[in-house]
Amino acid sequence: MRHLDHLWLYPPESLALADDEVHVWRAFLDLATEQVEDLYRSLTPDEQERAGRFRFQRDREHFIVARGVLRAILGRYLKVEPGQLHFRYSPYGKPALTGESGGETLRFNLSHSYGLALYAVARSREIGVDLEHIRADLASERMAEQFFSAREIAALRALPANVQTEAFFNCWTRKEAYVKARGKGLSLPLHQFDVSLAPGEPATLVSTRGDPLEASRWSLQALYPGPGYAATLAVEGHSWRLRCWQWPAQ
Ligand SMILES: CC(C)(COP(=O)(O)OP(=O)(O)OC[C@H]1O[C@@H](n2cnc3c(N)ncnc32)[C@H](O)[C@@H]1OP(=O)(O)O)[C@@H](O)C(=O)NCCC(=O)NCCS
Repeated sequence: MRHLDHLWLYPPESLALADDEVHVWRAFLDLATEQVEDLYRSLTPDEQERAGRFRFQRDREHFIVARGVLRAILGRYLKVEPGQLHFRYSPYGKPALTGESGGETLRFNLSHSYGLALYAVARSREIGVDLEHIRADLASERMAEQFFSAREIAALRALPANVQTEAFFNCWTRKEAYVKARGKGLSLPLHQFDVSLAPGEPATLVSTRGDPLEASRWSLQALYPGPGYAATLAVEGHSWRLRCWQWPAQ
């Protein structure tokens, strides 16, 4: 299935997240000024201060909307006001809810690119999501050599030229989603694991060096947020169902 906007449904008013579900929300970040101001008010002083450090208004507004929508989505599951949520950060910057905010079970991760954001939410399992705006000029041999494993580079080279950009972004978002799920940033060497990348092949973490069993602990899922974007979800474990929602909820 590709680029089917109808997969991103408006959620029901009463929305539950079952233990065996992963929800992914899609949000557009270009909003009217009043909506941006509303979301700004739900941010904590440190987030407002971070917003103030952006040089360009568009980047500042995208940060405010991305963070405000994150709070609104999590507040919806936890039935608390968005402004009441507290985040903590891993040593590598991955945000999570504090224990008293519901962080013991509710996990999330987000990614934003070119005016769009994706939010992944699950219970008691780690998750990571990566979204990229597809740019053919980025999908170069040099970039692949810098970031991909030897096996991935060989797989990419073996593909016909007309699918190389798609395969490149499959690889990029799959690697990044896994790195984000692990939450260890680039201390997790990108050459130490392999993902699938050929268009039409299922998204998988093929192998992990060091601990070979690690690959079997994770599942990857390709997401189709819209034309011109590539995205991947990485989830701890295998027995889960995906549901995709469109923000703003109606
Ligand atoms: C910061 C990083 C998480 C991703 O950055 P990115 O792709 O530019 O940004 P994304 O939009 O996908 O994700 C940013 C969000 O991830 C979250 N995040 C930040 N640090 C994180 C971490 N260590 N792990 C997981 N999530 C993290 C935050 O919510 C952040 O949003 P915010 O800044 O609005 O709070 C990090 O993995 C990184 O630097 N990656 C680069 C790795 C690389 O070079 N990859 C090459 C291709 S394989």
